[in-house]
Amino acid sequence: MFGGLSGMIMKKLLSLVTCVWIASTAGHEIFSSTDQVMQLVEEERYLLDIFKEYIDAEEENLNTLKAIHKRLTQLSNFEDSEEIMNDPVAAYKLIRRLRNEWLSIVNSTQESLYEAFQNLLHSGVLKIPSNEDLEGAALGLIELQDIYKLYPEDMIEGFFSSDEAFHVGLVAFEQEKFQFAFHWFLYSLEMLYQDSSVTKQQLLYHLSFSAYKFGSLSVAINFIIQHLNLDPTDENASYILTLYRTLQHLRSSDPDIYTLNTESTDSYGALCRGEVDRRTSRRQRALSCRYSTGGGNPRLILAPLKEEIEWDEPQIIRYHDIISDKEIEILKNLSRPQLSRSMIYSGISKIRVSQSVFLDEDDAVVARVTQRIADATGLSMETAEKLHVQNYGIGGKYEPHYDAWYQVNERIATFLIYMSDVKIGGATVFPKVGVALQPKKGSAVFWYNLEKNGDVDLRTEHAGCPVFVGNKWVANKWIHEFGQEFRRPCSLSEWE
Ligand SMILES: *[C@@H]1O[C@H](CO)[C@@H](O)[C@H](O)[C@H]1NC(C)=O
Ligand SMILES: *[C@@H]1O[C@H](CO)[C@@H](O)[C@H](O)[C@H]1NC(C)=O
Ligand SMILES: *[C@@H]1O[C@H](CO)[C@@H](O)[C@H](O)[C@H]1NC(C)=O
Repeated sequence: MFGGLSGMIMKKLLSLVTCVWIASTAGHEIFSSTDQVMQLVEEERYLLDIFKEYIDAEEENLNTLKAIHKRLTQLSNFEDSEEIMNDPVAAYKLIRRLRNEWLSIVNSTQESLYEAFQNLLHSGVLKIPSNEDLEGAALGLIELQDIYKLYPEDMIEGFFSSDEAFHVGLVAFEQEKFQFAFHWFLYSLEMLYQDSSVTKQQLLYHLSFSAYKFGSLSVAINFIIQHLNLDPTDENASYILTLYRTLQHLRSSDPDIYTLNTESTDSYGALCRGEVDRRTSRRQRALSCRYSTGGGNPRLILAPLKEEIEWDEPQIIRYHDIISDKEIEILKNLSRPQLSRSMIYSGISKIRVSQSVFLDEDDAVVARVTQRIADATGLSMETAEKLHVQNYGIGGKYEPHYDAWYQVNERIATFLIYMSDVKIGGATVFPKVGVALQPKKGSAVFWYNLEKNGDVDLRTEHAGCPVFVGNKWVANKWIHEFGQEFRRPCSLSEWE
């Protein structure tokens, strides 16, 4: 009688599962691509939808059970046991009812929606972030903090809870970034409220320990004393205090853990932070901007390229509006299903945090873009690699590297297309020459990795600064030596 109803609910739940199955791309790491983080927003909506659907189904089921219970109660109230004993028809009705209704109760309670829901949650159909994803996201924050020299307050716009800050602090501590850990713990302490999981004692202890690891014994002692004030019975803390005091007498330095050292020692970080030498930027401004037809290339006569010399030695050329928004959207659409964590030669890499894919030339848009690169550079695409599309995640970056490194048929030149603007961070920087190129959607930059004699041009070492705010998409075309024998001298002569 009631059996079909919960079956229907179950079907609804299952059909929902099928939808989610189609919508989710299985098994990818989340943190290395901001695009995938955006997909997570969708994922969360799905999860909430399913949860609501489950609650509704349970509610419906519960109402069914209540209705059965009510009917049975009413029926049994009418029975006069004396009468039933004497009335075979009434007895028959009772027996039949007990059997049927009881079975239907059994049916309605057996089909456990709860179990179906649990199975769904654990089936891997939903792309619920793993612990690794969470740690990766925290690492991304710490990476950004490191490069851009930021305090937690500088990074946080909205609300960041005590527990969230504590977790980031723990990850920083694990990475032996003790000063950052200390600042996250401080932030956590500031945000501490009654419902936080982390306790004041824990935080004071961690503050003390990270200060000790950083070398700031006076601060470490201060916090362990605060910890002891809260819990004077903690023998470990008393022991630690004694230890720190002894060490303090032996050490001469006591670095300031409260102030981040913004004096840059490395050119990469300074360039990423936009601390470009003023002479350099003046020199960069003096360089010229012009239209080019690629030396009379018929395809470019009607639509000349907008060229700008970003740098002279080594020459770095920016092409503006080299690719349309529509083409960019198509390239992104082609890439999304295939994105996987970037590999470099040694496998999955911590140096390059992004997701990437090589696109096949048999797509008309990919072929068109490749042709345009050939027209712009005057180089042959015969031996070039496939177009390599990359999406950078939270803290996504590519540390200083060379595109070429003494191989046969070397990557002679790099054509780097920016497929998005990046709000903060994400510049392409050349630490050896002090150049920072900002991503600008639709533009591309081009340079030779090799000198004319075939040696690697050491000035072309470059890096992708971590993305702070925004979603960075680029496409790389690595052009190789073979096939360029008669091309490069011509294309260069214009500039020399
Ligand atoms: C109980 O469920 C079974 C299998 O789903 C069905 O064959 C049977 O008719 C149901 N019985 C009642 C009383 O609803
Ligand atoms: C003291 O340290 C030991 C070993 O690290 C630990 O097992 C113990 O729980 C600590 N005691 C307190 C009170 O924290
Ligand atoms: C790219 O994909 C999105 C989402 O699937 C779609 O709405 C859009 O029309 C696609 N764009 C192009 C140019 O194919």
